[in-house]
Amino acid sequence: MNDTVTMTQLDGVAVITLNRPEKLNALNTELLSALEAHLFSVQTDRSVRVVVLTGSGPKAFAAGADISELHAQDGYSGRLYAEKGQRVLNLIERLGKPVIAAVNGFALGGGCELSMACHMRFAADTARFGQPEINLGIIPGFGGTQRLPRLVGTPKALELILSGDMLGASDALSIGLVNRVYSANELMDSTLAFARTLADKAPLALTACLEAVQIAGDTSLLEGLHVEASVFSRTCGTSDFKEGTRAFVEKRQAAFTGT
Ligand code: COA
Repeated sequence: MNDTVTMTQLDGVAVITLNRPEKLNALNTELLSALEAHLFSVQTDRSVRVVVLTGSGPKAFAAGADISELHAQDGYSGRLYAEKGQRVLNLIERLGKPVIAAVNGFALGGGCELSMACHMRFAADTARFGQPEINLGIIPGFGGTQRLPRLVGTPKALELILSGDMLGASDALSIGLVNRVYSANELMDSTLAFARTLADKAPLALTACLEAVQIAGDTSLLEGLHVEASVFSRTCGTSDFKEGTRAFVEKRQAAFTGT
């Protein structure tokens, strides 16, 4: 595995860091492959309960797909290029573990799309979001035309996608694109503190929450409720459910094992 993406792990939280700071963590093929490999490894590692995704350096989460690679695409290869990015981002969304983007700077183009594939976005007050692809004569290709309207509504998504304008962290908060804003100095500590609280929850219930909530955006209310009842019943069959309810009665902290 190359070092364009690094990973550390502590107290059930894996921190995955995009590591091309000299290129503002632009997403080239090498980086996307390394990210995909790290995601596969945390997906199967039972000791990892929550993932935090961030960018190295003070300036960028990721300033988009690597434009020098992008430039070489044509009408045929462009489809494969978009599908590779989409595959990695879909893996994040369907990882089965909460993934929090700690957006430490520019999140543009593929970087904004990457943050949107995460389940939550915590941003530094210096972060800037945008889909500037229009300025390159293309459209977002890593899910931006689909996830942005789902997150902020069609009019706001179109305003951003058609103009290519950047949005500061407080504006991103006001339209619901980010969950929380911290000072740049506090971002990582605060994100990790939140991640650790999730890491103490019942892992199978976390997975079940993600599964049930994700279906809400993709299906009718009746079908969604059907899925909820079935996923709910699955959690009722876990040892962690027995432990959680027993701990409540015994007035102690539950010790969840993920079984
Ligand atoms: N792809 C490839 N390289 C990129 C990049 C990208 N998306 N974004 C930044 N870089 C590189 C720059 O080329 C520069 O490399 P160099 O030092 O070898 O010349 C380095 O990262 C630093 O970027 P720079 O532009 O000098 O920083 P800045 O602070 O002046 O501007 C941005 C920051 C984010 C406004 C500017 O880099 C930018 O507009 N990037 C492209 C954003 C974009 O269009 N993304 C969508 C791609 S689909």
